[in-house]
Amino acid sequence: MPGLFSNDILDEVARANDIVEVVSGYFPLKRAGKDYVALCPFHAEKTPSFTVSPAKQIFKCFGCGRGGSVFNFVMAKESITFPEAVRILAERAGIELREDPDARRKTQGRRRLRDVLTWAQERFQAGLAHPTLGTPGREYLKQRGLADETIKAFGLGFAPEGWDNLIRAGARDGIGLDMLEQAGLVIPRNDGTGYYDRFRGRAIFPIFDALNRPIGFGGRVLGDEEPKYLNSPETPLFHKKEALYGLPQAREAIEADRRAVVVEGYFDVITPWQSGVRTCVATLGTALTDDHIQALKRYADEVVVVFDSDLAGRRAADRAMELFLAHDVRILVAVVPEGKDPCDFCTLHGADGFRQCLAGAADAFKYKWDLVQQDLDAATNPAARERALRAMLESVLKAPALAQQDLRLQRDLILGHMSRTLGIPEATLRAEFRRLRRPAGRSAAGTEVGRNLPDAAHRGRQWVAERKLLTALVCRPSAIEDVLDRVPPERIETPAFRRLYEAIRSSPSAGDADVAGLVRGMEDPADASLAVELFEQGQAMETVRNPADTGPGPIEHLLEEALRDFKKIEEEALLEARRQARGQAPTQGGADPNKALKEFAEARGNEAKKQAFTTPAARKRMSGDSGQA
Ligand code: CTP
Ligand code: MN
Repeated sequence: MPGLFSNDILDEVARANDIVEVVSGYFPLKRAGKDYVALCPFHAEKTPSFTVSPAKQIFKCFGCGRGGSVFNFVMAKESITFPEAVRILAERAGIELREDPDARRKTQGRRRLRDVLTWAQERFQAGLAHPTLGTPGREYLKQRGLADETIKAFGLGFAPEGWDNLIRAGARDGIGLDMLEQAGLVIPRNDGTGYYDRFRGRAIFPIFDALNRPIGFGGRVLGDEEPKYLNSPETPLFHKKEALYGLPQAREAIEADRRAVVVEGYFDVITPWQSGVRTCVATLGTALTDDHIQALKRYADEVVVVFDSDLAGRRAADRAMELFLAHDVRILVAVVPEGKDPCDFCTLHGADGFRQCLAGAADAFKYKWDLVQQDLDAATNPAARERALRAMLESVLKAPALAQQDLRLQRDLILGHMSRTLGIPEATLRAEFRRLRRPAGRSAAGTEVGRNLPDAAHRGRQWVAERKLLTALVCRPSAIEDVLDRVPPERIETPAFRRLYEAIRSSPSAGDADVAGLVRGMEDPADASLAVELFEQGQAMETVRNPADTGPGPIEHLLEEALRDFKKIEEEALLEARRQARGQAPTQGGADPNKALKEFAEARGNEAKKQAFTTPAARKRMSGDSGQA
């Protein structure tokens, strides 16, 4: 990856900073065989699972999964960026740094943007503190029940009424309109005669990254004008699909709990924080994305997604299921009672009330399961019941991770559970499951979910193939040249795997078993952790090998297997494309597996019918609110 520093420099700095020495500078290490161990500084534990390998020059915690090079360690320990860690370690070793001029220009641009955002945040804070102009803002936050300490902890501010407060302050402090526009703080006038302030007469919520640097702002009107909230636009620093409001404030508590709570709004983070539940973060008007989960996985093993009504939860349940199944993180779903959001609920019932609600969170699978059962009971015709049932099977199928060996067990458990609860023979469910999974298969009902299924099942195998390939390659980077011909980088679909693939490809050292050389240039701790994790897995496969055995070992076999997988996926896709081009229907195998399912669905329809699932509170909210997911 094009970094700020050349690979030679990184190599030099890393070699001059022995990881054992550097880590020992922070806390004592104990020798254990050829490695060193200690209590992990990144998560709470009673027995040491934090390991430093002098031979490989990496660290790895077998408890929380964090790992990487000496740079990654210093980054995590000091909560600093990659270039900052390089600088510190270079200084420690007395090495002078030469930076790549192109990269430096880009970094300088970002740095200036950061400076403008920090400046703006101070302006907004000053706006709130202003003896006269700030009064409406202060009154509003007080009326929402926020204490001074809370306002300070979240850096809240106020943009007084007026079209050019920030523009004039910028002119005074030497910050030009172009910079303000880049930072998303001003908007060009329609008639092209200049700019006006984006945030006017609004309480300001600065949005920080994990390192507590402002990246954007949210602004709320003080009354009931529209829109209620206004956010910064996307900028080079601000990406709504990644940002999590309240992360630096919640980070410590999340790490201590190993559990994060995801809510919807700014106040849903702040009010619980003030009452003592400090593990909440919010998405910024978007649904939860893989990037959000990726970020939270660094600190938590469990993520509780909170919805303010069953209706909202119902809408998002499939997404929660998908995330649950696709990441090795447990996803739970909590619904706040009475149609309240966490902010209102905390105000009414305090931290304990909210904690109780969180304690009642169901895991995403169970939550989805309950919904399907309620749908089954509420459905008035066989087709609707069949759809409900199929929805469940499809959710299970969607999970790329389920294709993995160790998760096949989980899938079996799910099918077993379905069979017992619904009284459908497991064989029938299995037949249906297989039919849905067939690449060209299409559900009889032809539902939305049904249509994207083949793709999902395909993705499952794809993911497994990618993981195998990368595991083999981190252990045998020298094999990359041969592999590249057969698997070009575009064929790797999972972003993290693709990044790792590119990193191996551009890694100059490429010495086999030199994972430290590989992770050296990785700026993202999650990428480094992934590389080390795969490396350890590959190593574990090799340790079970008989040393007398020469010839191709487990890693070589794994590599072959991965390449075969890729080839098979490609061939099938080709076949399928041809079939579709000929307009042929997919083959339908043997007896009708739908029949039993249909009969069952009909039988169930004769049972007493329940009211539709919507609660009165949820109905009221739905008609009142402008529904946004
Ligand atoms: N949101 C937004 N734009 C809007 C409305 C909402 O970006 N026009 C986002 C904001 O991030 C907001 C979140 O969605 O915090 C939740 O919105 P909502 O539930 O409507 O707001 P509340 O958090 O209940 O706001 P308040 O308590 O201030 O009324
Ligand atoms: Mn809300």
